[in-house]
Amino acid sequence: MSRPRAVVTGGAKRVGRAICLHLAQSGFDVAVHHRSGAEQAEEVAAQCRAAGADAFTVAADLAHTDQVQGLVSGVLERWDQISLLVNNASVYDPVPFEEIDAAEWDRVQAINTRAPFLLCRGFLSALRAADPSAIGAPAGQHGVVVHMCDIGADNPQVGYTHYSVSKAGLVMLVKTMALELAPAVRTVGISPGHVAWPPAYSDERRGRLASRIPLKRVGAPDDIARLVRFLTLEAHYVNGAIVPVDGGLGKRY
Ligand SMILES: NC(=O)c1ccc[n+]([C@@H]2O[C@H](COP(=O)([O-])OP(=O)(O)OC[C@H]3O[C@@H](n4cnc5c(N)ncnc54)[C@H](OP(=O)(O)O)[C@@H]3O)[C@@H](O)[C@H]2O)c1
Repeated sequence: MSRPRAVVTGGAKRVGRAICLHLAQSGFDVAVHHRSGAEQAEEVAAQCRAAGADAFTVAADLAHTDQVQGLVSGVLERWDQISLLVNNASVYDPVPFEEIDAAEWDRVQAINTRAPFLLCRGFLSALRAADPSAIGAPAGQHGVVVHMCDIGADNPQVGYTHYSVSKAGLVMLVKTMALELAPAVRTVGISPGHVAWPPAYSDERRGRLASRIPLKRVGAPDDIARLVRFLTLEAHYVNGAIVPVDGGLGKRY
Protein backbone atom coordinates (compact mmCIF):
# COMPACT_ATOMS: atom_id res chain seq x y z
CA MET A 1 0.00 0.00 0.00
CA SER A 2 1.41 3.41 -1.01
CA ARG A 3 1.46 6.43 1.31
CA PRO A 4 -1.29 8.96 0.62
CA ARG A 5 -0.15 12.36 -0.65
CA ALA A 6 -1.92 15.62 0.13
CA VAL A 7 -1.71 19.15 -1.28
CA VAL A 8 -2.89 21.84 1.14
CA THR A 9 -3.24 25.44 -0.04
CA GLY A 10 -2.55 28.17 2.49
CA GLY A 11 -0.78 25.56 4.61
CA ALA A 12 1.71 27.83 6.38
CA LYS A 13 -0.51 29.29 9.08
CA ARG A 14 -3.63 28.96 11.17
CA VAL A 15 -6.15 26.38 9.87
CA GLY A 16 -4.00 25.24 6.94
CA ARG A 17 -1.04 24.66 9.23
CA ALA A 18 -3.15 22.48 11.54
CA ILE A 19 -4.40 20.48 8.55
CA CYS A 20 -0.84 19.86 7.26
CA LEU A 21 0.46 18.75 10.66
CA HIS A 22 -2.52 16.53 11.36
CA LEU A 23 -2.26 14.88 7.95
CA ALA A 24 1.48 14.24 8.41
CA GLN A 25 0.79 12.67 11.80
CA SER A 26 -1.87 10.52 10.10
CA GLY A 27 0.60 9.08 7.57
CA PHE A 28 0.26 11.53 4.65
CA ASP A 29 3.02 13.09 2.61
CA VAL A 30 2.25 16.82 2.39
CA ALA A 31 2.84 19.60 -0.15
CA VAL A 32 2.55 22.85 1.81
CA HIS A 33 1.41 25.73 -0.40
CA HIS A 34 1.89 29.34 0.73
CA ARG A 35 1.95 32.86 -0.70
CA SER A 36 3.66 35.23 1.76
CA GLY A 37 4.43 32.75 4.53
CA ALA A 38 7.60 31.13 3.15
CA GLU A 39 9.32 30.86 6.53
CA GLN A 40 6.25 29.50 8.30
CA ALA A 41 5.64 27.04 5.44
CA GLU A 42 9.21 25.74 5.72
CA GLU A 43 8.67 25.27 9.45
CA VAL A 44 5.43 23.34 8.82
CA ALA A 45 7.15 21.16 6.21
CA ALA A 46 10.01 20.46 8.63
CA GLN A 47 7.52 19.40 11.31
CA CYS A 48 5.77 17.15 8.78
CA ARG A 49 9.11 15.55 7.89
CA ALA A 50 9.82 15.03 11.59
CA ALA A 51 6.54 13.07 11.68
CA GLY A 52 7.83 10.82 8.87
CA ALA A 53 6.27 12.56 5.87
CA ASP A 54 7.79 13.52 2.55
CA ALA A 55 6.97 17.24 2.77
CA PHE A 56 7.93 20.29 0.74
CA THR A 57 6.73 23.84 0.15
CA VAL A 58 5.39 25.50 -3.00
CA ALA A 59 4.79 29.25 -3.41
CA ALA A 60 2.02 30.76 -5.54
CA ASP A 61 -0.22 33.80 -5.54
CA LEU A 62 -3.55 32.20 -6.39
CA ALA A 63 -4.91 35.47 -7.80
CA HIS A 64 -2.80 34.80 -10.90
CA THR A 65 -3.62 31.93 -13.25
CA ASP A 66 0.01 31.41 -14.30
CA GLN A 67 1.01 30.99 -10.66
CA VAL A 68 -1.85 28.53 -10.08
CA GLN A 69 -0.44 26.51 -12.99
CA GLY A 70 3.01 26.87 -11.44
CA LEU A 71 1.73 25.36 -8.20
CA VAL A 72 0.27 22.43 -10.13
CA SER A 73 3.46 21.77 -12.07
CA GLY A 74 5.63 22.28 -8.98
CA VAL A 75 3.78 19.44 -7.26
CA LEU A 76 3.48 17.20 -10.32
CA GLU A 77 7.25 17.42 -10.89
CA ARG A 78 7.59 15.41 -7.68
CA TRP A 79 4.37 13.42 -7.46
CA ASP A 80 2.25 11.83 -10.19
CA GLN A 81 -0.45 10.68 -7.77
CA ILE A 82 -2.37 12.73 -5.20
CA SER A 83 -4.89 11.29 -2.79
CA LEU A 84 -6.10 14.59 -1.31
CA LEU A 85 -6.37 18.23 -2.37
CA VAL A 86 -7.44 20.68 0.34
CA ASN A 87 -8.48 24.05 -1.06
CA ASN A 88 -7.96 26.04 2.13
CA ALA A 89 -6.32 29.33 1.04
CA SER A 90 -8.67 32.28 1.02
CA VAL A 91 -8.85 36.03 1.24
CA TYR A 92 -11.25 37.65 3.74
CA ASP A 93 -11.06 41.44 3.66
CA PRO A 94 -14.11 43.54 4.54
CA VAL A 95 -15.13 46.21 2.01
CA PRO A 96 -18.45 48.13 2.12
CA PHE A 97 -20.75 47.19 -0.76
CA GLU A 98 -20.47 50.55 -2.54
CA GLU A 99 -16.65 50.44 -2.41
CA ILE A 100 -16.18 47.02 -4.03
CA ASP A 101 -14.89 47.81 -7.50
CA ALA A 102 -14.48 45.37 -10.39
CA ALA A 103 -10.81 44.71 -9.62
CA GLU A 104 -11.49 43.86 -5.96
CA TRP A 105 -14.46 41.69 -6.92
CA ASP A 106 -12.34 39.78 -9.47
CA ARG A 107 -9.43 39.37 -7.03
CA VAL A 108 -11.60 37.75 -4.37
CA GLN A 109 -13.40 35.46 -6.83
CA ALA A 110 -10.03 34.51 -8.38
CA ILE A 111 -8.46 33.47 -5.08
CA ASN A 112 -11.48 31.94 -3.36
CA THR A 113 -13.35 30.29 -6.24
CA ARG A 114 -11.44 30.29 -9.55
CA ALA A 115 -8.17 28.98 -8.08
CA PRO A 116 -9.84 26.02 -6.31
CA PHE A 117 -11.53 25.15 -9.63
CA LEU A 118 -8.28 25.46 -11.61
CA LEU A 119 -6.39 23.42 -9.03
CA CYS A 120 -8.99 20.65 -9.25
CA ARG A 121 -8.61 20.65 -13.03
CA GLY A 122 -4.82 20.76 -12.83
CA PHE A 123 -4.60 17.91 -10.34
CA LEU A 124 -7.42 15.83 -11.83
CA SER A 125 -5.22 13.25 -13.54
CA ALA A 126 -3.10 12.86 -10.41
CA LEU A 127 -6.24 12.50 -8.24
CA ARG A 128 -7.62 9.87 -10.63
CA ALA A 129 -4.27 8.05 -10.56
CA ALA A 130 -4.11 7.72 -6.75
CA ASP A 131 -4.24 4.29 -5.18
CA PRO A 132 -7.62 3.89 -3.38
CA SER A 133 -6.02 1.63 -0.78
CA ALA A 134 -3.72 4.49 0.30
CA ILE A 135 -6.74 6.09 1.99
CA GLY A 136 -8.63 2.87 2.67
CA ALA A 137 -11.20 3.67 -0.04
CA PRO A 138 -13.15 1.10 -2.06
CA ALA A 139 -11.88 0.21 -5.55
CA GLY A 140 -12.66 2.93 -8.08
CA GLN A 141 -12.56 5.79 -5.53
CA HIS A 142 -9.12 7.24 -6.04
CA GLY A 143 -8.83 10.83 -4.78
CA VAL A 144 -10.60 13.26 -2.46
CA VAL A 145 -11.05 17.03 -2.69
CA VAL A 146 -11.94 19.09 0.38
CA HIS A 147 -13.06 22.67 -0.22
CA MET A 148 -12.94 25.02 2.77
CA CYS A 149 -16.22 26.90 2.55
CA ASP A 150 -17.82 29.05 5.29
CA ILE A 151 -21.18 29.14 7.07
CA GLY A 152 -21.19 32.69 5.62
CA ALA A 153 -21.92 31.13 2.21
CA ASP A 154 -25.53 30.72 3.40
CA ASN A 155 -25.63 33.53 5.96
CA PRO A 156 -24.77 36.98 4.58
CA GLN A 157 -22.44 39.28 6.50
CA VAL A 158 -22.36 43.06 6.14
CA GLY A 159 -19.11 44.18 4.47
CA TYR A 160 -18.35 40.82 2.88
CA THR A 161 -20.55 40.64 -0.25
CA HIS A 162 -17.64 39.65 -2.51
CA TYR A 163 -16.37 37.07 -0.01
CA SER A 164 -19.80 35.56 0.68
CA VAL A 165 -20.52 35.23 -3.04
CA SER A 166 -17.12 33.58 -3.57
CA LYS A 167 -17.82 31.00 -0.86
CA ALA A 168 -21.35 30.40 -2.18
CA GLY A 169 -19.68 29.61 -5.50
CA LEU A 170 -17.34 27.20 -3.76
CA VAL A 171 -20.33 25.44 -2.17
CA MET A 172 -21.75 24.88 -5.66
CA LEU A 173 -18.33 23.67 -6.86
CA VAL A 174 -18.50 20.96 -4.17
CA LYS A 175 -21.86 19.85 -5.53
CA THR A 176 -21.01 19.94 -9.25
CA MET A 177 -17.74 18.09 -8.71
CA ALA A 178 -19.50 15.50 -6.56
CA LEU A 179 -21.77 14.75 -9.52
CA GLU A 180 -19.34 15.03 -12.40
CA LEU A 181 -16.09 13.60 -11.01
CA ALA A 182 -17.42 10.68 -8.94
CA PRO A 183 -16.73 7.87 -8.41
CA ALA A 184 -13.03 8.39 -9.16
CA VAL A 185 -12.87 11.64 -7.19
CA ARG A 186 -14.98 12.29 -4.12
CA THR A 187 -15.65 15.93 -3.18
CA VAL A 188 -16.69 17.37 0.17
CA GLY A 189 -16.87 20.80 1.80
CA ILE A 190 -16.25 22.03 5.32
CA SER A 191 -17.96 25.20 6.52
CA PRO A 192 -16.27 26.62 9.61
CA GLY A 193 -17.88 29.08 11.97
CA HIS A 194 -15.36 30.78 14.27
CA VAL A 195 -12.25 28.57 14.48
CA ALA A 196 -9.45 31.18 14.26
CA TRP A 197 -10.15 34.87 14.80
CA PRO A 198 -9.02 37.36 12.17
CA PRO A 199 -6.15 39.20 13.93
CA ALA A 200 -7.95 42.55 13.53
CA TYR A 201 -10.94 41.53 15.70
CA SER A 202 -10.96 43.27 19.09
CA ASP A 203 -11.48 41.35 22.34
CA GLU A 204 -14.89 43.01 22.65
CA ARG A 205 -15.91 41.80 19.18
CA ARG A 206 -14.57 38.30 19.83
CA GLY A 207 -16.53 38.07 23.08
CA ARG A 208 -19.72 39.34 21.46
CA LEU A 209 -19.44 36.88 18.56
CA ALA A 210 -18.53 33.95 20.82
CA SER A 211 -21.55 34.57 23.07
CA ARG A 212 -23.86 33.88 20.10
CA ILE A 213 -22.48 30.36 19.56
CA PRO A 214 -24.82 27.71 21.00
CA LEU A 215 -21.82 25.72 22.36
CA LYS A 216 -20.67 28.95 24.07
CA ARG A 217 -17.09 28.64 22.87
CA VAL A 218 -15.13 29.18 19.69
CA GLY A 219 -13.65 26.28 17.78
CA ALA A 220 -10.00 25.67 16.92
CA PRO A 221 -8.01 24.86 13.78
CA ASP A 222 -7.63 21.29 15.06
CA ASP A 223 -11.42 20.86 14.88
CA ILE A 224 -11.10 21.38 11.13
CA ALA A 225 -7.96 19.26 10.77
CA ARG A 226 -9.59 16.28 12.50
CA LEU A 227 -12.57 16.52 10.17
CA VAL A 228 -10.37 16.68 7.06
CA ARG A 229 -8.71 13.48 8.22
CA PHE A 230 -12.07 11.80 8.97
CA LEU A 231 -13.66 12.84 5.68
CA THR A 232 -10.65 11.53 3.76
CA LEU A 233 -9.82 8.31 5.57
CA GLU A 234 -13.14 7.21 7.05
CA ALA A 235 -16.12 8.79 5.28
CA HIS A 236 -15.91 6.95 1.97
CA TYR A 237 -19.67 7.21 1.30
CA VAL A 238 -19.82 10.98 1.87
CA ASN A 239 -19.84 12.85 -1.45
CA GLY A 240 -21.15 16.36 -2.13
CA ALA A 241 -21.81 17.12 1.54
CA ILE A 242 -20.85 20.41 3.17
CA VAL A 243 -20.23 19.87 6.87
CA PRO A 244 -20.63 22.84 9.25
CA VAL A 245 -18.07 23.06 12.06
CA ASP A 246 -19.56 25.97 13.93
CA GLY A 247 -20.80 24.95 17.37
CA GLY A 248 -24.34 25.35 16.01
CA LEU A 249 -23.91 29.02 15.05
CA GLY A 250 -25.36 28.55 11.56
CA LYS A 251 -28.71 27.54 13.11
CA ARG A 252 -29.06 30.94 14.78
CA TYR A 253 -29.37 33.07 11.64
N1 LIG B 1 -10.77 31.24 10.57
C1 LIG B 1 -12.06 30.98 10.67
O1 LIG B 1 -12.66 31.02 11.77
C2 LIG B 1 -12.84 30.65 9.43
C3 LIG B 1 -14.23 30.84 9.41
C4 LIG B 1 -14.94 30.52 8.26
C5 LIG B 1 -14.28 30.01 7.15
N2 LIG B 1 -12.93 29.84 7.20
C6 LIG B 1 -12.26 29.32 6.00
O2 LIG B 1 -11.30 28.34 6.38
C7 LIG B 1 -10.10 28.48 5.61
C8 LIG B 1 -8.90 28.71 6.53
O3 LIG B 1 -9.18 29.80 7.39
P1 LIG B 1 -8.00 30.74 7.94
O4 LIG B 1 -8.65 31.72 8.85
O5 LIG B 1 -6.88 29.89 8.45
O6 LIG B 1 -7.58 31.46 6.59
P2 LIG B 1 -6.64 32.76 6.41
O7 LIG B 1 -5.67 32.81 7.52
O8 LIG B 1 -7.53 33.95 6.22
O9 LIG B 1 -5.96 32.46 5.00
C9 LIG B 1 -5.28 31.23 4.78
C10 LIG B 1 -4.15 31.43 3.83
O10 LIG B 1 -4.62 31.84 2.57
C11 LIG B 1 -3.49 32.30 1.89
N3 LIG B 1 -3.81 33.27 0.86
C12 LIG B 1 -4.45 34.46 0.96
N4 LIG B 1 -4.42 35.12 -0.21
C13 LIG B 1 -3.75 34.33 -1.08
C14 LIG B 1 -3.38 34.44 -2.43
N5 LIG B 1 -3.65 35.53 -3.17
N6 LIG B 1 -2.70 33.42 -2.99
C15 LIG B 1 -2.37 32.34 -2.28
N7 LIG B 1 -2.68 32.16 -0.99
C16 LIG B 1 -3.37 33.15 -0.40
C17 LIG B 1 -2.55 32.94 2.92
O11 LIG B 1 -1.26 32.41 2.71
P3 LIG B 1 0.08 33.23 3.13
O12 LIG B 1 -0.10 33.52 4.60
O13 LIG B 1 1.20 32.32 2.84
O14 LIG B 1 0.07 34.49 2.31
C18 LIG B 1 -3.16 32.53 4.24
O15 LIG B 1 -2.25 32.06 5.18
C19 LIG B 1 -10.36 29.63 4.64
O16 LIG B 1 -10.81 29.11 3.41
C20 LIG B 1 -11.47 30.42 5.29
O17 LIG B 1 -12.28 31.12 4.38
C21 LIG B 1 -12.19 30.15 8.31
